[in-house]
Amino acid sequence: MRSVVLLVMIGLVELGVSQHYSQLQWLSQLRGRRRHVGWQAEDMDCPLECDCPSAYPTAMYCHGRNLQHVPYVPSHIKYAYLQRNQITSIQDGVFDNATNLLWVVLFHNQLNSDKIGKNVFSKLKNLDQLYLDHNELTRVPPNLPNSITTLRLGHNKISKINSNSFEGMANITTLQLQANAIEDVGGVFKGLKSLTLLDIRKNKLRKIPENLPETLQQLYLEFNNIDSVPAGFLSMYPKLHFVRLAHNRLTDKGLPYNVFNISTLVELDLSFNKLEKIPLVSRNLENLYLHANKIKEFSLSSFCSTIDMRNFSRLRVLRLDANKIGAKDIPAEAAYCLRRVAFIDV
Ligand SMILES: *[C@@H]1O[C@H](CO)[C@@H](O)[C@H](O)[C@H]1NC(C)=O
Ligand SMILES: *[C@@H]1O[C@H](CO)[C@@H](O)[C@H](O)[C@H]1NC(C)=O
Ligand SMILES: *[C@@H]1O[C@H](CO)[C@@H](O)[C@H](O)[C@H]1NC(C)=O
Ligand SMILES: *[C@@H]1O[C@H](CO)[C@@H](O)[C@H](O)[C@H]1NC(C)=O
Repeated sequence: MRSVVLLVMIGLVELGVSQHYSQLQWLSQLRGRRRHVGWQAEDMDCPLECDCPSAYPTAMYCHGRNLQHVPYVPSHIKYAYLQRNQITSIQDGVFDNATNLLWVVLFHNQLNSDKIGKNVFSKLKNLDQLYLDHNELTRVPPNLPNSITTLRLGHNKISKINSNSFEGMANITTLQLQANAIEDVGGVFKGLKSLTLLDIRKNKLRKIPENLPETLQQLYLEFNNIDSVPAGFLSMYPKLHFVRLAHNRLTDKGLPYNVFNISTLVELDLSFNKLEKIPLVSRNLENLYLHANKIKEFSLSSFCSTIDMRNFSRLRVLRLDANKIGAKDIPAEAAYCLRRVAFIDV
């Protein structure tokens, strides 16, 4: 685990270098670095465009070099850093000898779905992390290996997801699809038996995705066009602790009674919607964001059905600012029910 963290840090340091130095400065920086013992490039397999430092024999650094194609990846490489180039296409075969690859980092390129071979990734039986965010993809690449645990596809141009796009990916835990143009997802996430985090912020969803995996813990749906939450929605996902629905089109009418009265929910973000009432929430909820709605009244019964000394809400953070209520609308009894809230933003 420690070595993985180190590799990431080196990736970040190099990123800074390539961004802030001009071409020439960058070259001299590189030469200086090569003189440093740990960085001597002894690896004869290493593509000329890349660095394969002997101190990290399984890593290949090719980021920020104006590359237009993926260089040949030697078979012993496990971590391929190809981010921040101008790569538009990946031909079948490029990774064929690199079946040990665990990480393929390709964010901030210009990858085009029509120029990615059908089986580019399919032979990478050990692939764990695939970062394809900030590209020009219009589709989820086909035949992704089932070994993947983290898949980043955010900031692309994906509008439709084929029903079999994620088929068999039983080990995926994190799936990022934010900032695309997705209108509907059907039931594509159903088979993802290990999924814990699903990020579909900044898309064009009109409703909450159905058939989500029961393992899901975090669901990010901010900046979509969602106007309602189906009745019983949260009771189907007992592990779902964090639900973020800010910047949607939710109205009171779209929220069935009790839909958020779910004892497993820890954080609920409903800010920047069109709610006029405070929805009923469970006493176990800890963070509730309701700012920038149209709330006209403070209903203590939304938090505590009865007011007594022993029975109170676990809420710690409550934001109600940018609504149509003020501090004077909060009744004195709120102090009993909301005793863990340090102050209420109004
Ligand atoms: C893969 O390795 C084999 C055997 O070492 C070699 O013949 C072949 O050219 C390599 N493939 C690529 C795409 O370089
Ligand atoms: C999924 O994860 C399990 C447990 O880590 C592992 O044994 C299995 O080989 C993985 N599946 C694939 C397709 O890599
Ligand atoms: C909220 O849920 C709890 C636990 O399921 C239940 O006891 C309670 O009656 C519900 N509250 C309301 C107002 O329906
Ligand atoms: C708190 O109130 C709920 C519903 O009103 C009730 O079911 C529960 O027994 C109460 N708990 C305590 C500790 O009084």
